[in-house]
Amino acid sequence: MNKLGIYIHIPFCERRCKYCDFTSFIFNQSRMKDYVDHLLLEIKNNEELLKNYIVDTIFIGGGTPSLLSIDELTCLVNGLNEAINLDENYEFTIETNPNSISEEKLLVYKELGINRISIGVQSFNDRLLRIIGRLHTADEAREKIKLAMKYFDNLSLDFIFSLPTETLADVIVSIDTASELGASHISLYSLILEEGTLLNALVERGVYRVNDQVTDRLIYRKATEQLESLGYKQYEISNFAKNGCYSRHNYKYWSMDEYLGLGMAAHSLIKNKRFFNASTFNEYFDDVKKSIYHDEEILSHEDKITEYIIFKLRTNEGIIVNEINKKYDIDFEDIYREELKKATEEKLLKKCDGRYFYTEFGRDIANQVEILFV
Ligand SMILES: C[S@@+](CC[C@H](N)C(=O)[O-])C[C@H]1O[C@@H](n2cnc3c(N)ncnc32)[C@H](O)[C@@H]1O
Ligand code: SF4
Repeated sequence: MNKLGIYIHIPFCERRCKYCDFTSFIFNQSRMKDYVDHLLLEIKNNEELLKNYIVDTIFIGGGTPSLLSIDELTCLVNGLNEAINLDENYEFTIETNPNSISEEKLLVYKELGINRISIGVQSFNDRLLRIIGRLHTADEAREKIKLAMKYFDNLSLDFIFSLPTETLADVIVSIDTASELGASHISLYSLILEEGTLLNALVERGVYRVNDQVTDRLIYRKATEQLESLGYKQYEISNFAKNGCYSRHNYKYWSMDEYLGLGMAAHSLIKNKRFFNASTFNEYFDDVKKSIYHDEEILSHEDKITEYIIFKLRTNEGIIVNEINKKYDIDFEDIYREELKKATEEKLLKKCDGRYFYTEFGRDIANQVEILFV
């Protein structure tokens, strides 16, 4: 049987952070209950499909999944377990926020078989946390991380750099603190100023300045060096892991492996189809009751190859020529002769030991390199 990843989206947050445009709404207890009932129905709708797979990764993401009550999470995980064949060597992650984790919840996560916890920290600097509208202080994040470490040795922390007024020294303090606390995985994202967010409006009004691209890339390189020196091996543009603790679930996205997304705004990749769920409660609830997806896209063989190239190049492993040839029954170097020639001549990609991967310079302008292959 083929392997499958499952993503479950929880679209609630206590407050919207000023930079974030993920699909999420202000937490409401009765809405959450209603939402979980619909997730359970969506799992049932997929029972036939799930019988054909072995699930080896589960990721409950958000939004803020740690806002689920113990009863809601237990019902959800039990409903899922009834529908899936779980691989004995599975990875099960829950995304959390320092405000809404407690010892009681952590214990239940463990009992439910969750074996990886991801905590959104963003920075260990109180000034920056206030600027971006986080509800926790650096000390509160530290306390919750220490608590989580009692129950989980596979612990990931999320950070954003190039926040308004943030210096390289601030970023290094955040990385060093994460390492001292014992994180096994660190995600470090460059701030994206998303249209429609409060932070974007503040920058447009001139209240804050953000780093130019040169400064942003300089901080990225220094931060990457610091992470590597502390034993966090980079395996993707924004992701670093110690002792092989990379995110198996996220790696599926970069390898175009199959996954089923459940919940609002979730999407799935099953064989040559992408399914999309609606991004409003009413539409999502209606679709689930009718057992339909909001939208779908059939990927041609060429679409799949293009997406694979773009995603896989994000990883440090890059594109292994033998692997892509076998996976898609092609001669990669023949089909993309011109593109590969241009990318290697311009020192955007390097070839070594039968694989192509980004140079430092190429990684800095990854979006522009990707266009070559579209
Ligand atoms: C969808 S959030 C969920 C995490 C959790 N709700 C929290 O914030 O504590 C996942 C991660 O995406 C990153 N992120 C969200 N918006 C971003 C943006 N505009 N630019 C860069 N990274 C962003 C943050 O690091 C965040 O922790
Ligand atoms: S960063 Fe996390 S907590 Fe903040 S609004 Fe986005 S999903 Fe919610």
